[in-house]
Amino acid sequence: MDIREVGVIGLGTMGAGIAEVFARGGLVVTAVEADAAALDRGLTALSASLARAESRGKLAADERARIAALIRPAPSIGSLAGADLVIEVVPERLPVKRQVLAELDQVCRPDAVIATNTSSLSVTAIAAGSAHPGRVVGMHFFNPAPVMALVEVVTTVLTDPAVTTAVSELAASLGKTPVAVGDRAGFVANALLLPYLNHAVRLAETGHATREDIDTAATAGIGLPMGPLALLDLIGLDTSLAILDVLDREFGGTRYTPAPLLRRLTDAGRTGRKSGGGFYDYPAAARGPGGTSTGENADQPAPPGTVTLIDATATAGSGDPAGSGDLAGLIAAAGINLTRNPVHPTDLVVIALGPAGGALGPALAADRAADAVGVHLASPGLAELVPTALTSARALAAGRALLARLGLKVVCCADRPGLLVGALLYPHLRDAVVMVADGYARPADVDAAMTLGCGYPRGPMRMLAEVGPDRAVGVLGAMHAGYGDPAFAPPPLLTEYAMAGLSPVGRGER
Ligand code: CAA
Repeated sequence: MDIREVGVIGLGTMGAGIAEVFARGGLVVTAVEADAAALDRGLTALSASLARAESRGKLAADERARIAALIRPAPSIGSLAGADLVIEVVPERLPVKRQVLAELDQVCRPDAVIATNTSSLSVTAIAAGSAHPGRVVGMHFFNPAPVMALVEVVTTVLTDPAVTTAVSELAASLGKTPVAVGDRAGFVANALLLPYLNHAVRLAETGHATREDIDTAATAGIGLPMGPLALLDLIGLDTSLAILDVLDREFGGTRYTPAPLLRRLTDAGRTGRKSGGGFYDYPAAARGPGGTSTGENADQPAPPGTVTLIDATATAGSGDPAGSGDLAGLIAAAGINLTRNPVHPTDLVVIALGPAGGALGPALAADRAADAVGVHLASPGLAELVPTALTSARALAAGRALLARLGLKVVCCADRPGLLVGALLYPHLRDAVVMVADGYARPADVDAAMTLGCGYPRGPMRMLAEVGPDRAVGVLGAMHAGYGDPAFAPPPLLTEYAMAGLSPVGRGER
């Protein structure tokens, strides 16, 4: 199949990005958007993206003009008669998408490919709205489309194999990596990404941590390119909610049931960057993708002169080594007096924690509860600061000052199993293992989806291999015991990896 002329229906965030990708690949693009204001916004976003590429030296001025000239706006589907491929990027509502496909049946050549960029709806159900379901295929791009390499190619039992091949070859010719996935809710990437984002919203709405700390935990603690709340703002809260609703219907359980705050913000029109605000505010000039400023606290009190260090795992047996040796080394290197004897009077008691948390017991045992904070060295350079229910405001401020003096980035969270980095990370790794255990995707597919689609430096199965399945079992077990939520229970395949000493990414690798 020779694909030279394409149609893009819907010029929202994704539609504009996809139109840009096609035009950059030299294809003639008819961009259909019935709503004049939406068309205007889409074309503005598109030209801003091209201008940005030019200003960064990625695109020559004449090239930019050539790309822009390939994009032809049109008010109706009637303009798509000559298209070799049409992709619909209209809102995630099945009746709307089926209506679009029915209209395309009237307009397009019988051999034209009809692609849907649905993020979660059944491609089979969408295809059933077409008189020619064999030519319907899922072609799922990731936001920002010009940057993210992954295209999930979703086939149904009805899809003509020649159509699948044509779409995969087209994606490759546009510089993308096509990955074939089955028609299951959320495909691979969204089925893993969205429950993780949803959990982050729950952590924010329950006051477990601030939005900034949640995002820092993901970037500095896990190494992801964006924090989950900033990413929700980029994807769009309404889009994310629609995907979660589908996942919830398909899979059920707390990982997928949309957090109430997500629905409230969507209802309030705070749908993210595109509306000027979501979890964060975006002045008009800053609506393009990128980081958000998180405002560091300005005035720090002086760090404590003397510190008592207590190892929580030594007293409470909470499993994972708490890294009190590392912490002791850092404190001593900063020239701060350190004792491990709880009866010595000191300015601050630091309970060295593992990712399972549990500062209150050791603090009470030392009879210094008001003076005590928990600290977990979550990753090189990042500390989790954990007040207990009895920690005084003075001790919390002293803990913050101490960690700043040690040169550590700090996130603060409630003393709950998983703390903050672990609460985000381990259930996410669990979801990936469950997907593999279901036989839906291989470890390599899971990792490719998340690295190419979501910019992860390493995929979840690789991350699991690095942290160790036994550690994941430990933290998930503590979360399951603490919250009673089966969504945190270590799945049998994970326990098997841990017991058998097997690598989640394959034999011989660790
Ligand atoms: N258009 C074109 N290029 C863009 C762009 C855009 N809208 N946004 C960023 N870029 C380019 C920049 O020009 C830059 O390119 P060079 O390195 O070649 O100069 C590069 O991307 C990096 O941009 P920045 O330096 O400005 O910003 P960054 O390093 O912070 O990266 C990011 C920004 C690429 C968005 C990165 O934070 C990231 O990968 N985030 C994760 C995004 C993600 O997870 N997307 C998937 C969401 S899920 C989805 O979309 C599916 C769904 O159905 C909901």
